[in-house]
Amino acid sequence: MKTLIKTADPLTIQTDCLILLCTEKKLSGLLKTLDELLGGALSAQVSAGRFEGKKNQTCLLDSRGAFSAENLLVVGMGKQKDATLESLRQATGTAIKLAERSRFKNPVLCFPEQDMGKIGGGKGYDKNAPWGAIAEAVNLALFHFDEYKSKQEDDPKDAPPRLDSITLLCPAKARERAIQKYVDQGLLLAEAVTVTRNLQWQPGNRATPLYLADEAKKLARRHKFSCKVLGVKEMEQLGMGSLLGVAQGSEHPPAFIVMEYYGGKKKQAPIVIVGKGITFDTGGISLKPGAGMDEMKYDMSGGAVAIGTLSAAASLKLKVNLIGLVPAAENMPSGRAIKPGDILTASNGKTIEVLNTDAEGRLVLADALVYAQRYEPSAVIDLATLTGACLVALGHSAAAVVGTDQKLINKLMSAGKVCGERVWQLPLYEEFEKAVKSDVADLKNIASPGVGGGTIVGAAFLKSFVGDFPWAHLDIAGTAWTGEEKPYVPKGGTGYGVRLLIETLRSL
Ligand code: BES
Ligand code: MN
Ligand code: ZN
Repeated sequence: MKTLIKTADPLTIQTDCLILLCTEKKLSGLLKTLDELLGGALSAQVSAGRFEGKKNQTCLLDSRGAFSAENLLVVGMGKQKDATLESLRQATGTAIKLAERSRFKNPVLCFPEQDMGKIGGGKGYDKNAPWGAIAEAVNLALFHFDEYKSKQEDDPKDAPPRLDSITLLCPAKARERAIQKYVDQGLLLAEAVTVTRNLQWQPGNRATPLYLADEAKKLARRHKFSCKVLGVKEMEQLGMGSLLGVAQGSEHPPAFIVMEYYGGKKKQAPIVIVGKGITFDTGGISLKPGAGMDEMKYDMSGGAVAIGTLSAAASLKLKVNLIGLVPAAENMPSGRAIKPGDILTASNGKTIEVLNTDAEGRLVLADALVYAQRYEPSAVIDLATLTGACLVALGHSAAAVVGTDQKLINKLMSAGKVCGERVWQLPLYEEFEKAVKSDVADLKNIASPGVGGGTIVGAAFLKSFVGDFPWAHLDIAGTAWTGEEKPYVPKGGTGYGVRLLIETLRSL
């Protein structure tokens, strides 16, 4: 699928489908002209109450030769004053998926700037930004994971519908170069999200810790950042007893993935991204119930986001120094697995009483957070599908953020508003740190029954391994995957986090 840009008259352009984005108001400008050419077919839909330009509302009409496009697809964005880059991405995603399902091949998308107001902000208004958002949304919406589907060769009509290209109609020849730059950035960002989604969607028998490590290495070569992988021996030398403890029940050895991208000034302290990479979470000896356990293939989502974010930062050539760490392991019950009551020693010397082997994410993150300290980072951000409690609190609507640095947390929350990947803060009250103190070791990996606040308890445990660096923990248990598709987000692994982190890095 190619994303092209072209300056041309929408009335004379040849395409099987002309997509027109519009806001909620009276037919005017291009829409009015098209409606007149169609003999009022569009205004008839409007008066019948079938199309008002409301958010993600669609109206598909055959042109019957009234203009050169074979079909016209109008998609609403809601009220003009409420239009944001996010509503633009959603309308674009809605349009492009309908075009694909309708088996069009080469649609042309027209975004009539002059009718749209100041999308993307008042003060820092950037008139080219919508074009990047459109390119991003098109390519996010067309995500397909069909690696494991056998091909139906016989009849092309039975093949799943796929677009060949999408052409974005540029408002003026003179602006093509500037717009192309934004489109290219949108494409690179969407590509990195796709990398993350692909890693998430891989089944657990394929996406083992070593698979993740190999994919990270491939991406590092492609986008020119460095990647090394520590094996069991090196982890033992570093004393990563907490990570090794989780891994010891599995036949698949763990991997500690270290990615480094230096795009900033030499002396600038890096930002470290840490992503939980549990390639499958059975719960271990504290075994999970069977129903829905398959979803625990997504328990490496934080790691996939770290890998995708490094790829994005490097391919976009962001001027930042960025480190990605992925402690990857499989959490299995076996004769060698850790048991409730076992005590592990992490790489900072702290001892951990494992009261529940299903609280394994915080155990692998502990050693990764200690490792992060060697970079003397300006910020540490970890992402993890850490607690079911997060899903209870926020559903699939936002990730929870808990941390020690309010400035960093604020940056994450405002980046979330811009990119549409929402973040909601929970408090790190002192009593939760007390709740993870053990009677027999320094820490225990769960709180006593009745404490509640499971997401905060997880964060409070992690805090002991961060040192004094500014830190924010993102619990993505609810956002990493979803059961309901959205305009440009599939059901299943969403890639949530990559766009959030890139937007945050751009704002720092
Ligand atoms: N990976 C799970 C968290 C999870 C559960 C994410 C459901 C998404 C959906 C994590 O390893 C886990 O099992 N957490 C436990 C912690 C508990 C034992 C304190 C949980 O949330 O039940
Ligand atoms: Mn678990
Ligand atoms: Zn887990």
